[in-house]
Amino acid sequence: MSKAKLIRQGRIVTATEDFTGDVLVRDGKIVAVGQDLKAMADGAEVVDAKGLLVIPGGIDAHTHLDLPFMGTSSSDDFETGTIAAANGGTTSIIDFAIQSLGKSMGDALNVWHEKAAGKAVVDYAFHMAVTDLNDRTIAEVPGVIEGGVTSFKTFMAYKGALMVDDGQLFRLMEVVKKLGGIVTMHAENAELIETLVPRFLKEGKTDPVWHERAHTAIGEGEATNRAISLSRVAGHPCYIVHLTCDEALHHVKDSLTRHRHPVFAETCPQYLLLDREIYEKPNFEGAKWVMSPPLRTKNDQEALWAGIRDGFIQTIATDHCPFNFHGQKDVGKGNFAKIPNGAPGIENRMNLMYTYGVLENRISLNRFVQLMSTNPAKIFGMYPQKGTIAPGSDADIVLFDPKKENTISVKTSKQRCDYSSFEGFKTKGEPVAVMSRGEWLLKEGKITAPKGHGKFVKRARFTGTSEMVR
Ligand code: URP
Ligand code: ZN
Ligand code: ZN
Repeated sequence: MSKAKLIRQGRIVTATEDFTGDVLVRDGKIVAVGQDLKAMADGAEVVDAKGLLVIPGGIDAHTHLDLPFMGTSSSDDFETGTIAAANGGTTSIIDFAIQSLGKSMGDALNVWHEKAAGKAVVDYAFHMAVTDLNDRTIAEVPGVIEGGVTSFKTFMAYKGALMVDDGQLFRLMEVVKKLGGIVTMHAENAELIETLVPRFLKEGKTDPVWHERAHTAIGEGEATNRAISLSRVAGHPCYIVHLTCDEALHHVKDSLTRHRHPVFAETCPQYLLLDREIYEKPNFEGAKWVMSPPLRTKNDQEALWAGIRDGFIQTIATDHCPFNFHGQKDVGKGNFAKIPNGAPGIENRMNLMYTYGVLENRISLNRFVQLMSTNPAKIFGMYPQKGTIAPGSDADIVLFDPKKENTISVKTSKQRCDYSSFEGFKTKGEPVAVMSRGEWLLKEGKITAPKGHGKFVKRARFTGTSEMVR
């Protein structure tokens, strides 16, 4: 058991509270939060948190570590990726266990458990990514949920590889509704993409910029509407992952306001802070940001910020799926369709959202905590074990220095990737100490994370509506 810890006189911020006080941690749990806990803290390590924010550990609900994809594998495994996560203030991730065609969901979960166990330094859970739904595999859903994997992922893109059709998606929603889970969707119009990609290549349009032109915002909007429509017919909420544009957001708003049908939406820092002009960079450099859906316009960025402000977007994840520029991305020179889709970002969610969200007055501090931690915990069945600072919760705590300035660079990143998506971005505010279940993962700016510290989080069934996070 780790030594008890008393965090003294920090500014404690949760989704709803903001006050100066102490937090006492014992046996991996928060045991008290209050004004002066010295008397209760015999023998505890005392940590002076004056001038620091004391916030719940971040939860990144969308990562791809050690993912075999498009002929290669994402470059971070569960050790390197979660060290980077911890460095950035994330103490829990939800990765995707991806079913292989012809195989069972159980097989996929076994593979992902093996990838993570003994390696991860932060706690981890899995979404079950369903790629092959039929009478045999649908019968596995109760066992998957029983095992604490209560969210399911479907791809409406990547035809012939990961995609499920609308009938499969609808059947999954129906069964998951009965059993207490939630279905999440990568929403893009696959038929449109599969029509445009070969046409562009035939016309000699092979550069990264054509990836964005093939993955249209209108196609994303259409698929988002289709996903929400199916979820309305099924009569059960759904969750749209990595939403990028106004076209898609419009349908989320419509569902929540006109139809009163609960839908959750997630976006990522890259869609808020980078735009599609980056694909025009010379020397194939645009390939670094080839991801699906792709980066959009500056107008879309503004629409997303407004969507966050107004409560239509409830979580910020990273979709961390890194591939090295040299040796992985460059396979697509001369054919943009071969560039592995995805980019790094697990390390920079908190400092970017604080700098460009809180300090730019786009979101409040409480909203920042909701987006980073509380909402993903609530939606995905981890609350109040995680996602808050309260007696009884896991002691997953970030001490965040709101004054510390930095410039993001691959040179100082812990991510195992030869570039950073946010190279040169200036940030103000960053985690200086990070605790997971009472153990230091980062202290005095140094990683102290013991390999294998991370544990699988068995999640509760989904019971909510979108009111719970708005
Ligand atoms: O381009 C992306 N986003 N790669 C990771 C897989 C996915 O679609 O989420
Ligand atoms: Zn996706
Ligand atoms: Zn993803």
